[in-house]
Amino acid sequence: MMIEPVVDIHLDRVWIEQALRADVAEGFASQPKELPPKWFYDDRGSELFDRITRLPDYYPTRREREILEREVDVIAERSGADTVVELGSGTSEKTRIVLDALAETGWLRRYVPFDNSEATLRTAAAELAEAYEGLAVHGVVGDFEHHLGHIPEGGCRLMMLLGGTIGNFPPAPRKDFLCAVADAMAPGDTFLLGFDLVKEHDRLIAAYNDPDGVTAAFNRNVLSVINHRLDADFDLDQFEHEARFDPDEEWIEMLLRSCRPQRVTIGGLNMTVDFARDERLRTEISAKFRPENIGPELGAVGLAMECLWTDAQDDYALTLSRMVG
Ligand code: AVJ
Repeated sequence: MMIEPVVDIHLDRVWIEQALRADVAEGFASQPKELPPKWFYDDRGSELFDRITRLPDYYPTRREREILEREVDVIAERSGADTVVELGSGTSEKTRIVLDALAETGWLRRYVPFDNSEATLRTAAAELAEAYEGLAVHGVVGDFEHHLGHIPEGGCRLMMLLGGTIGNFPPAPRKDFLCAVADAMAPGDTFLLGFDLVKEHDRLIAAYNDPDGVTAAFNRNVLSVINHRLDADFDLDQFEHEARFDPDEEWIEMLLRSCRPQRVTIGGLNMTVDFARDERLRTEISAKFRPENIGPELGAVGLAMECLWTDAQDDYALTLSRMVG
């Protein structure tokens, strides 16, 4: 029997607009200007990201899938989970690998996708409820920097944050985020977390500069999100996509470079913003990790790392940790 998905919504239009207004006001007042990457993902941004995951040079998705496919039985067995909670679930594409293995054990009861895009989450929720007979899908539309406390309780849970999304946090916010995840976990719950690793700089840079401009379109899309939500008049053609590796911080930075001096009006904020020629707006950081630092970082928030697996080329790491009671 198919069970109708339930979806809790913690992000309504008003909440989203207020949060965006605060982030834009603060980010454009800072020097250099910056925006948090979560605003990429409206419907079009989610679709563009989905295309990025299939680009030849964007290796993280394929490497992570390789590890998942190889280790999924161990993950299922060790987790002992009846509930999978996926943070930033998006299209839930890789989720099926884990759900299949847990279904096999007979333990699987519930899937909790957590995402900030309602449309993407509803589509994924409906598809999975359809595909897995008897699976209760309980979606949460929320911002995982604010709404982790709303994850439904109960059962033995496997939490997941895949794709290297953890890299979007600079170190201090990353620690706060990991603390909040640990707080949301009960003793015995496990956490499957993916990390993109430091590697040759050319390959890192190529992953964020595809020749067809899909990543550039994804990057510029954040301006169109601001245009629509906050009644702004960004001219997307007047900003160039840039992605570079910062070897000191060991992170990729995505930027939008203003092609000329320009003034942008943001109606919803009653403000104008000036960009000098070549001034850069930072839209994302994507931190790259060293395997030896991962266990200690998890340990610092009370998560005991039990496994760290890499793909055959050591491009990417997937970790399984446990909340110790
Ligand atoms: C979804 C944050 C993991 O950092 O690689 C892809 C987003 N940005 N190409 C990443 C992204 C540009 C992606 N994460």
